[in-house]
Amino acid sequence: MRLEFVTIFPDYFAPLQLSLVGKAIAGGTVELAVHDLRAWTHDRHHTTDDTPYGGGAGMVMKPEPWGEALDALEESSVLPITVVVPTPAGRPFTQSLAYELAGKERLVFACGRYEGIDQRVIDHCRQRYEVVEVSLGDYVLNGGEVAALAITEAVVRLLPGVLGNPDSLLEESHSSGNEQLLEYPNYTKPPVWRGREVPEVLLSGNHGLIAKWRRERALERTRSTRPDLLDGDFS
Ligand code: ADE
Repeated sequence: MRLEFVTIFPDYFAPLQLSLVGKAIAGGTVELAVHDLRAWTHDRHHTTDDTPYGGGAGMVMKPEPWGEALDALEESSVLPITVVVPTPAGRPFTQSLAYELAGKERLVFACGRYEGIDQRVIDHCRQRYEVVEVSLGDYVLNGGEVAALAITEAVVRLLPGVLGNPDSLLEESHSSGNEQLLEYPNYTKPPVWRGREVPEVLLSGNHGLIAKWRRERALERTRSTRPDLLDGDFS
């Protein structure tokens, strides 16, 4: 998979060289390119924003550098482009959207700042590429960079060969193999820590009982923290 980021803050993406995503890049599963939007400006100040038509607070990102950036990216590879636009006005990011994006060949993250990107850029992109506007949640970040990092991590870990143990994907919170329940609590050694014992059933070796206990805890946790996930018939 090819992942590209267009941003006025390329340094935000340095952490992608770390951990699992870094390994996926080193191992060749992921090809990564970070592009500075200012490379497609032509004025002395490398201006990327301007005041909004119609008035109001904040600045809007100018269409010209975005247009040139996307034209250049399109010419740089024959892989079909899916443009991901992080925005609080987008489709909520979920595990199922992460799986959907993990199936694409080339994601280009268009990271806006300020009050976002001139709408004509998005409309123009929709005519030429697949476009997915994605929101991380009902809150406002200063720009799309942090959202793009989060989306990238969620997507890359789903690519074949990236996780050491792919079974982890089946049991974690929000996985479809888990009936959309939050994950049960986990414990490791030692068996007693600061007077707190690991639940006895987990030491029993009885896999049936352990599975039953875990499902009960997952249901309990989901009921208490995310009752909205329990719209089905759980018992
Ligand atoms: N950019 C600013 N806020 C955002 C959010 N909540 N999700 C995605 N991108 C954003």
